[in-house]
Amino acid sequence: MSAAPGYGLESVVAASTKLSRVDGQAGRLVIGGYELEDLAPQAAFEEVSYLLLHGSLPDSSDLASFKRALAGRRHLTSATISLLGEAARSGVSVIDALLIAAPTLRLGRTEDPGDDALTAIAAFPAIVGSYWRLKTGHEPVAVREDLSHAAHFLYQVFGREPGPRQTRALETYLNTVCDHGLNASTFTARVIISTHSDVISAVTGAIGALKGPLHGGAPGPALEMVFEIEKAERAEAIIRAKLASGERLMGFGHRVYKVRDPRADVLAAAADALYEDEQERQLYMLAKYVEQTALRLLEEAKPGRRLQTNVEFYTALLLHGLGLPVELFTPTFAAGRVAGWTAHALEQLREGRLIRPDANYVGGLGLKFEPADQR
Ligand code: COA
Repeated sequence: MSAAPGYGLESVVAASTKLSRVDGQAGRLVIGGYELEDLAPQAAFEEVSYLLLHGSLPDSSDLASFKRALAGRRHLTSATISLLGEAARSGVSVIDALLIAAPTLRLGRTEDPGDDALTAIAAFPAIVGSYWRLKTGHEPVAVREDLSHAAHFLYQVFGREPGPRQTRALETYLNTVCDHGLNASTFTARVIISTHSDVISAVTGAIGALKGPLHGGAPGPALEMVFEIEKAERAEAIIRAKLASGERLMGFGHRVYKVRDPRADVLAAAADALYEDEQERQLYMLAKYVEQTALRLLEEAKPGRRLQTNVEFYTALLLHGLGLPVELFTPTFAAGRVAGWTAHALEQLREGRLIRPDANYVGGLGLKFEPADQR
């Protein structure tokens, strides 16, 4: 069933932004003036975050001080660590632990939008990494300030320094997902800050929006489908059965992109560079085959819908190649997207207006109140 016009705010313009431009017809994504394909595989995540927060890429000296500013904000308070410990004892998922811990980033600090933005970007990987270690029975590793943002993320999760290939792959991923127009979580952040609330509240609300499977929760199920298929010759039958039972194929379809999501190509190239040994390449080739089969069968099942591969399909493959478990996929997405959330929050604070749409009332009219015992 097609949605009524305006429902889900499709095509409604709710803000002006200099942060990113999503061209769903041409399959192009521009971040702060740069084509995604140019920026994401080359830039450091700190450079991209600076670009979003300041509107231009930093020179070497600004980059060095920005890196120091972020690295100095990686440390979590003891209250945050103890809350994470409590969450681990009750087995909370990693994305929920991030959701619970994010508001504690205001502890011991005076509220300040710029500082809040840096703190959120810097601390998300520390929360995710520390929590993952606690949940899997390990002590969190002590924060280091000498590693790049992406390298430190992997260090916090695995407790050892990653190699340059792994760091580059994660960096490309974080850059690729850093911002994407008024997606649901970014819109949530802008709605929250539009009331002149604060940046930490805005990113907390955004995590809540991100975790749903129609937004950031899809890469886990996308990878599970590839594992379930296991062998290329099983792809067609399994995908056909899923579509026949009305299941949505995770990693396909997009509200805005009606051609291939440009982020899928950037991440496919990054995954290609990451998957080196024979066994890993088999998984990569299987995923490519599954993708082609899914696209063909989606066109057959939903002709004219133009359902294409989205960012989540190759996200799953890339993050799996980094050794990250499925439970960390959405939290890692949050660690990249938080750069966009905070930049949008600051932009909304500077230039925006209270966001307050209307609803079309479709309930009853003219009812008269009766006391409960007379209804
Ligand atoms: N698999 C199978 N069918 C799909 C589909 C998918 N991945 N995505 C959309 N469709 C179908 C819908 O069932 C609908 O068919 P119908 O009109 O016959 O009922 C039609 O295509 C349009 O879908 P709609 O839900 O209106 O599109 P949307 O713009 O609201 O949805 C998504 C966009 C992303 C929510 C949707 O494509 C989806 O659920 N994808 C899978 C989850 C995913 O990968 N999320 C990550 C997004 S980056």
